Amino acid sequence: MKKIIIYCDKKKWLIDKDLKKFSTHFGNIEIPEMEREVEISFVNNRKIYFLKPTISEFILKLKRKTQIIYSKDIAVIIFYSDLKETDNVIETGTGSGALLIGILSKVKEGKVITIEKNEEFRKIAEKNIENYFGQIPKNLKFINGDVYDENFKLNIEEEWADKIFLDLPEPWRAKNILKYLKIGGILVNYNPQITQIKRFIEGINGFIDINVFEILERNWIVDEKRARPVDLMRGHTGFIMIARKVE
Ligand SMILES: C[S@@+](CC[C@H](N)C(=O)[O-])C[C@H]1O[C@@H](n2cnc3c(N)ncnc32)[C@H](O)[C@@H]1O
Repeated sequence: MKKIIIYCDKKKWLIDKDLKKFSTHFGNIEIPEMEREVEISFVNNRKIYFLKPTISEFILKLKRKTQIIYSKDIAVIIFYSDLKETDNVIETGTGSGALLIGILSKVKEGKVITIEKNEEFRKIAEKNIENYFGQIPKNLKFINGDVYDENFKLNIEEEWADKIFLDLPEPWRAKNILKYLKIGGILVNYNPQITQIKRFIEGINGFIDINVFEILERNWIVDEKRARPVDLMRGHTGFIMIARKVE
């Protein structure tokens, strides 16, 4: 991990571990060596905590030029797709690598292929993965390509993947990729608009047990004076579609 979290007065910053100083509205913070799990210092009478980021803290503060899938959705996608350490996985588009970090946190022995058509986004995702894992995991392969292209091919056997994850603006144009999913394998498609999900479902064959849902996360304030939901919540992120390939 090449990042640390600074926590002070319920605020968090994700910064480079190698940074010596970090400036905030209450003064400059000197960054200690992380010799223990938690380091503590004081600046202008404020107590500052330095911590290793959790996966969801890292994802929330990810460097990005694309929309990302948030942790509340990634957590459910990973569990409901029954993602295993030994699974072979195809993911597209890579975007900023948020879902990919989730996938790689689980898949250690299987192989992960991620496909992105935009070189700039791919480079950002690569950096994010490297920052999180300390290096690019050996079981990960980045591919630059357009999965809408009818001639797009992967250098693998058909029915290679145990799981396929799609996060594309027009997933119905990527049907070609579904031949790489094993019979019995699980397909996940993520889209912000239900019309995208509907159009995709209408165009796929050989899948059963198609479930479409969204995850609403409502945080609560719980302190001495209050025990109630926050005033504002993230109302919508995206719809998750999960299905099983049988034919
Ligand atoms: C919403 S982003 C994916 C975000 C990613 N799931 C994450 O959590 O960071 C969608 C990505 O799909 C890529 N994309 C769109 N069309 C594509 C295509 N035809 N082939 C490959 N990638 C494509 C876009 O460039 C973009 O990076």
